[in-house]
Amino acid sequence: MANTIDHFHSALKTELDLTQKYIISFSEAKDSLTRKSIGHIVKNKGKMLRPILLILSGWYSYRASNPKSKDDTLFIDDIAKVAAILELIQMSSLIHDDVLDHASVRRNKATLNNLKGNRFAILLGDYLVAQSLKNCYQLIHNAERIFDPVILYSMLDSISKLVLGEVQQNNFNEHTHSYKNGVDKYFEIVENKTASLFSLSCFVGSSIGSRDTKYTEILKQLGHNIGIAYQIIDDIRDFAPTKEISGEKNFQDIRFGIKTLPIIYAFQFSQNGESERLAGYFNSRKDLSKKEKNEITLILTGTQSIERSFRKVQFYISNARQILSQLPENQYSIMLSEMVSYLSESSERAVSDIIKTKP
Ligand code: FPP
Ligand code: MG
Repeated sequence: MANTIDHFHSALKTELDLTQKYIISFSEAKDSLTRKSIGHIVKNKGKMLRPILLILSGWYSYRASNPKSKDDTLFIDDIAKVAAILELIQMSSLIHDDVLDHASVRRNKATLNNLKGNRFAILLGDYLVAQSLKNCYQLIHNAERIFDPVILYSMLDSISKLVLGEVQQNNFNEHTHSYKNGVDKYFEIVENKTASLFSLSCFVGSSIGSRDTKYTEILKQLGHNIGIAYQIIDDIRDFAPTKEISGEKNFQDIRFGIKTLPIIYAFQFSQNGESERLAGYFNSRKDLSKKEKNEITLILTGTQSIERSFRKVQFYISNARQILSQLPENQYSIMLSEMVSYLSESSERAVSDIIKTKP
């Protein structure tokens, strides 16, 4: 059972528990309504993929540079602080994303925009970014060990890319009516909105682990490729009929007019009126019946859109494996490759869930 998320959670329990402790303390607020809402967000943890990658990259570089160190307490404390700083940025981006995507549920719990409205959600998301950056500055300046200020710069740079990716996605969804070059545009957006935080996680983790930059660039590339694969898998998963795979709500991207990779391919390769039928569902916002979801799935499978998207996942997964093979092996590079396998297997499960749909 190596490649389940629980495997990573139990192997890194100490670091992840400490990360959660720092998430709580870094996001503290004196105002009670704000505190209550932050509590709701903080408790509703996801799979913690980015903190896991950050911690593994940190351990990898730390062990590779200090094979004989006896007391790792300081390193564990620092890596948990940085993981918390990054996770706060991730939380903030999801709060904003749920406003933009009109999402009422995330991880089976009501979203903040659903509970408190868009204005409150956006402001609370802004507060979390501010807290995150303030704590990053404090870590760099107050730590017992000296950290490279490039860590703070790379965080700011990634946030800038993340927001730019969302601006681009918004323009692409709302103002671009042609699907010509749609695949290229999709990848440009995904590199910014998703891969930026994954590569940052690996880069920052590795920089905390060691001042030796030998591994940092390789791990950053690993995060970049994992991030792109992850986003395509997320976009495929939206069409999965099984709740355990798609989450509480499926077919949200087509309902709300988000041009994800399977949707772009479906428009590009559809014929005989399929395109018009898809366009009737795209951004329609209405609840879809089982029959309508079935019809969309059959267009997606008929145009090979799921398979085409899956082949892209495989491309980035194989890049990630090739990148990992450049690193001298230790127990943490093995765990990083288990993480790559975990993602690969989860995409295989999503694809087979979708393609079992019959007319
Ligand atoms: C998930 O996308 C969201 C992102 C990858 C990034 C969202 C970033 C912003 C909204 C910019 C604002 C950020 C900050 C920090 C101020 P998705 O909709 O594809 O994934 P989902 O299925 O999890 O909703
Ligand atoms: Mg979303």
